Amino acid sequence: KPPYRRVAVFGAGYIGLVTGACLADLGHRVVIRDIDPEKIKLLQAGEVPIYEPGLSDLIGRNKERLSFTLDLAEAVTGAEIAYVCVDTPPSASGDADLSRVWSVVTSLKDAAHLRAVVVKSTVPVGTGSRVRAALDAAGLGHVGYAANPEFTAEGRAVSDFMHPDRIVIGTSDEATARLLTELHESVDGPVVVMSVRSAEMVKLAANALLATKISFINEIATLCEKTGADVEEVAHAVGLDHRLGPHFLRPGIGWGGSCFPKDSEALRQLANNTGYHLQLLSAVIEVNNLQKRRAIQKLKDELGTLAGARVALLGLTFKPGTDDMRESPSTVLASRLLAEGAEVHCWDPMARPAAAEPWTSTTRHTSVEQALEGADAAVIVTEWPQLAQVDWTQAVATMRRPVLFDGRNLLDPVAMRAAGYHYLSVGRP
Ligand code: UDX
Repeated sequence: KPPYRRVAVFGAGYIGLVTGACLADLGHRVVIRDIDPEKIKLLQAGEVPIYEPGLSDLIGRNKERLSFTLDLAEAVTGAEIAYVCVDTPPSASGDADLSRVWSVVTSLKDAAHLRAVVVKSTVPVGTGSRVRAALDAAGLGHVGYAANPEFTAEGRAVSDFMHPDRIVIGTSDEATARLLTELHESVDGPVVVMSVRSAEMVKLAANALLATKISFINEIATLCEKTGADVEEVAHAVGLDHRLGPHFLRPGIGWGGSCFPKDSEALRQLANNTGYHLQLLSAVIEVNNLQKRRAIQKLKDELGTLAGARVALLGLTFKPGTDDMRESPSTVLASRLLAEGAEVHCWDPMARPAAAEPWTSTTRHTSVEQALEGADAAVIVTEWPQLAQVDWTQAVATMRRPVLFDGRNLLDPVAMRAAGYHYLSVGRP
C-alpha cells in the first residue's frame, strides 16, 4: 500500500469539500482551509454548507482524518501536497478571475517542505506555467507542480471522484506524476498523465463538447417540431451508435449550472485571446440562450399575451438532485416573465434562490398543487421526480387555463392530453 499523505486543501466549496472528504476517505490526512469564517464554523460544528448526496456521511465518518480551519499555518504546516480548489469566476473582461488562485499560491511562498502544488480549479491554459514560474521565483523550484482537473457532476460528485472515467494529471516531472498516481491508488479509474497545458485544456474541451451535444439535440428538437418527427425517438436511435453514445442527448430548455456556462465562456475567451474565434462553441452558447427565449415564445403563442397571466414555474434548480441555482434557466424565465407583466408562482423542493430579483417578485409555494392553482400556464423547468408523482388529473381542474409546457419531456403527452391539458413539450409531436 502506498503511504498516506498529508494534504492541505484550499477552498471549502463544492470541489474542495468533495476532494478533501474523498482523499480523507482514502486514508490521507486532510486539512481544508477557507477564508470564510461562517463556512468554517459550520464545518467545524459538523454541518455541511452545501447539499451533495453522500458528502455529509463521508465527512462524518472521516472526522479523525479531516479537519477545517481558517488558519493558513494550520493547513500548511506538515502538508506534503497543497490542493488549490478555489473558484475562478468570470471577470469583467470575460477571462477567468484567478485572484483566489494567486492568493493561495502566494500564501505558500514559505512552504519549502511541500512536495507538490496541485491546481484543481478550472483555469485558462497557460496558468500552470505561470504558477510554476511564481513557485520558482519564491525559491520553491524543488516543489512539483500539477494540474489535476475535476470532472465531477453535482449530485454525484462523491461517486464521480471515487469511480471516475479518468484521472487527468498534467505535470512535467515524473516524481509529481508518481506522487499523485499513488495518492489516487485506491480510486477506481485510469490515470492519464500529460503536459500541464493539455490537462488544463481537457477540462474545458470536455465540458464544451458535452454542452455541444445538448445544444445540438435541442436544435434537432426544434426541427422535429417543425417536421413532425419525435426527438425522443431520434435521440434514442442516434445514441445507439457507439461512436456517439446515449449521454447528453436529452433535449430541454437549456443547460445551466456552475460549470457549462462559465467554462464555455472561458474557453471562448481563451480562444479570442489567441486571435482564433471558436465558431462552433459560439453557436452552442447562442442556441442555449435561444432555447430559453423559445420557451417564453411558446407561452406567448398559447396565451396571446403574458401581461397579467399567472405562470407557475415548476423546478428552479439547474437540474434535479441539487439545491444549486447557479445559471439556472429558471432565473432567465422568471425574469423574462416578470418583464412581460406576468405573475410568477414557483415550486421547488430544494432551491434556495437569492433574496434578490427576480425571485423577490415571485411567490414561492410548498406544493406543486398550490403553485398550479389559478395558473394560466405552468412550465416544468427542472425534471424533479416529484413532478412525475403529481396527480395531474386532479390538478387540471384548479388551473385557470390548462396550458402545460413540459420543458424537460418528463411526462407522457398522451396521458396529459387525456387529462385535459393543452400539453406542450420539446421536440415531440
Ligand atoms: C457538469 C459536467 O457533467 C461535469 O463533468 C463538470 O465537471 C461540471 O459540469 P454539472 O454542472 O453538475 O456537471 O451538471 P450536468 O449533470 O452535467 O448537467 C449540466 C446541465 O445540462 C444541466 O442544466 C442539465 O439539465 C443539462 N442537460 C444535461 C441537458 O439539458 N441535457 C442532457 O442530456 C444532459
